[in-house]
Amino acid sequence: MTINAQNLSTLTQEKSVESDRTEDVFQEINTQKHSTQEDSSQEDSVDIAQLRTPIKVDLSPIYEFLGARTTQAWINAAIADLPLIIQDHANCEKKAAGTAMNLLFRYEFSYDLQRKLAQLIREEMLHYEQVLGIMNERGQEWEYLSAGRYAKGMLKHKRTYEPAAMVDVLIIGAFIEARSCERFAALAEVINDERLAKYYRYLLKSESRHFEDYLALAQSLSENNIDERVAFFKAVEAELISSPDTELRFHSGTPA
Ligand SMILES: [Fe+2]
Ligand SMILES: [Fe+2]
Repeated sequence: MTINAQNLSTLTQEKSVESDRTEDVFQEINTQKHSTQEDSSQEDSVDIAQLRTPIKVDLSPIYEFLGARTTQAWINAAIADLPLIIQDHANCEKKAAGTAMNLLFRYEFSYDLQRKLAQLIREEMLHYEQVLGIMNERGQEWEYLSAGRYAKGMLKHKRTYEPAAMVDVLIIGAFIEARSCERFAALAEVINDERLAKYYRYLLKSESRHFEDYLALAQSLSENNIDERVAFFKAVEAELISSPDTELRFHSGTPA
């Protein structure tokens, strides 16, 4: 708006009316500031008891993206060994942040990539802290757990030249995030611990966004359409999830 004399006089009039209720306005601002602080602490608290009730997330794009749904056999095995799943989940959050940090250092040319990765690292480290809190609350000791076959099973197909290597890592990242989301949702439905179920539902919002971010970045940084590459990894990922697996992990296959 251009401020001419008439506008200025209107503004001055409005300002004098405003000044009559200065106290109200300040009170309003303070209330808003206070509730914003509360909102952000509810959103980002390390203590899962402080988190707000999770919003409902539409998982249909995730189910469409993935080539296979988690089997009931995996869900049963996971429920029967929750401490192992929680330990592996902690490892996954740390690895997700580490992988994003590697990408952050390796590909410094893209503003979009840097910004998205910085946010992702922040969120994955928050999840890591939250899962550590859950372990502490449950009196669960940290235990070394070797990595399963899942990520390696996809990374071995990564092309070795740029920018194809970067595009593949981003597509693989999208699959890991989407699968995590699908499994959190599956576990939240059957888990006999409402606090943990609520936390898994809380994670759906950020993890489903991470899936979309990785996929969008992969396409934006590729000269060619990535559909064919996505279809390739879709088949590889579905096979890793559906075929028999001797180790139980957060992203393991059907229990052998
Ligand atoms: Fe996470
Ligand atoms: Fe994530």
